[in-house]
Amino acid sequence: MSDIEIRTLDEAQWRESLGLFRAALHALPVTDEQWAVGRRSYEPGRTLGAFRGDALAGTAFAWSSDLVVPGGGVLPMAAVTRVGVRSDQRRRGVLRELMHHQLSDIAARGEVFAALRPTEPVIYGRFGYGMATQGAKLTVSPKNVEFRPGAPAGGRVRLVSTDEALAVLPGIYERVGRTRPGAIARPGYWWTVFYERAFAAGEHIVLAVHTGPDGDDGYLMYRPTQGALPGTNATLAVEDFVASTPDALYGLWRFLLGIDLVDEITVWTRPTDEPVEEALLDPRPVTAREARSDLWLRLVDVPKALAARPYGSATVVIAVDDPVLPANSGHYRLTPDGATRTTAPAELSLDVSVLAMLYLGTWRPRPLATIGRLQEHTPGGAARADTAFAVPESSWCGTFF
Ligand SMILES: CC(C)(COP(=O)(O)OP(=O)(O)OC[C@H]1O[C@@H](n2cnc3c(N)ncnc32)[C@H](O)[C@@H]1OP(=O)(O)O)[C@@H](O)C(=O)NCCC(=O)NCCS
Repeated sequence: MSDIEIRTLDEAQWRESLGLFRAALHALPVTDEQWAVGRRSYEPGRTLGAFRGDALAGTAFAWSSDLVVPGGGVLPMAAVTRVGVRSDQRRRGVLRELMHHQLSDIAARGEVFAALRPTEPVIYGRFGYGMATQGAKLTVSPKNVEFRPGAPAGGRVRLVSTDEALAVLPGIYERVGRTRPGAIARPGYWWTVFYERAFAAGEHIVLAVHTGPDGDDGYLMYRPTQGALPGTNATLAVEDFVASTPDALYGLWRFLLGIDLVDEITVWTRPTDEPVEEALLDPRPVTAREARSDLWLRLVDVPKALAARPYGSATVVIAVDDPVLPANSGHYRLTPDGATRTTAPAELSLDVSVLAMLYLGTWRPRPLATIGRLQEHTPGGAARADTAFAVPESSWCGTFF
């Protein structure tokens, strides 16, 4: 029997839990000024504390969000974050208790998915999470950049102040930021953590909004870093880049690459299938393109999740194993007409964490079978699953949390 008790923390305990999480990442406790904003970044009822006796040993939090799935459906999702265990309590099962309790709570709330962005990916597969999307991190040296004739011209780009930002950006994201599978809702808590907190701290942030024929349809947020010596150029780190149409996307790229006195630009993440280099006459200004882990997904309600997306022109029966939420375990038939439970023999079997890797179409079953991540029982089963899970454009989240 475990000596760990999991409780839902109340508002008075949030600051202690945030301090514990920050300490787990080697950061100082929050100051009163930081807490004045930070306390508004909590959703009531979703912070868990793990107690040994009266001592808080670990914590985990989630926001209510949702997820765009292939085919365009939008289903409820818990965005899990601020997971930490006190350094004198580690490797004694605190995280395991927190994760199991949190997943049961998410299931009881009727949320179909959980998602997180792990600092240490090796930990979360055992709880059913798998890397479900990847993003491209781009590094650009903006010298001699010329766009090809025919590349979208873009509309007007204007700078908005940090005072205006929270009246403008959330609406743009809501309207145009969630076109691809993998995109998630950004509730008010998210804007508090990632924008309001940085504005209140006086961080150097620049915001540029693109306007197309139907109004504002994209924006980017970057942080400039000036070289140490007077007269040296800056580097720009783009941390949030939202664009729904080719005009908004390339209009914002044209703006970015046209900024003076810049040596290097990094764009933290964009979908992997955008041919930015090929929009340029000479692709070499894009000096690096790195595939980065994006969203880690957990199918909390497998029957609902599988029924929510379409499948390609192949039929395949898969066996799913979910040791943490055993109600999900079983056989599922995937067909162009939908997904249903079945008792038919399985052509493939896989852990629920691997199903999360397939679900948004980022990873293909056949290559995963070659490295033992799923088992093929019937020849051709993995190839049929390739066809079933394929998606027309790469899935991408692009929201850090
Ligand atoms: C990572 C962390 C949350 C783990 O908490 P913990 O209470 O020590 O974990 P548990 O004892 O419950 O371990 C659960 C399982 O994960 C494994 N595990 C835990 N931390 C691990 C690590 N850093 N690397 C590899 N495996 C790890 C354990 O071995 C155990 O494995 P098992 O299922 O085979 O028995 C904790 O060490 C921590 O707070 N670290 C700093 C902050 C951090 O990294 N947070 C995660 C942000 S995504």
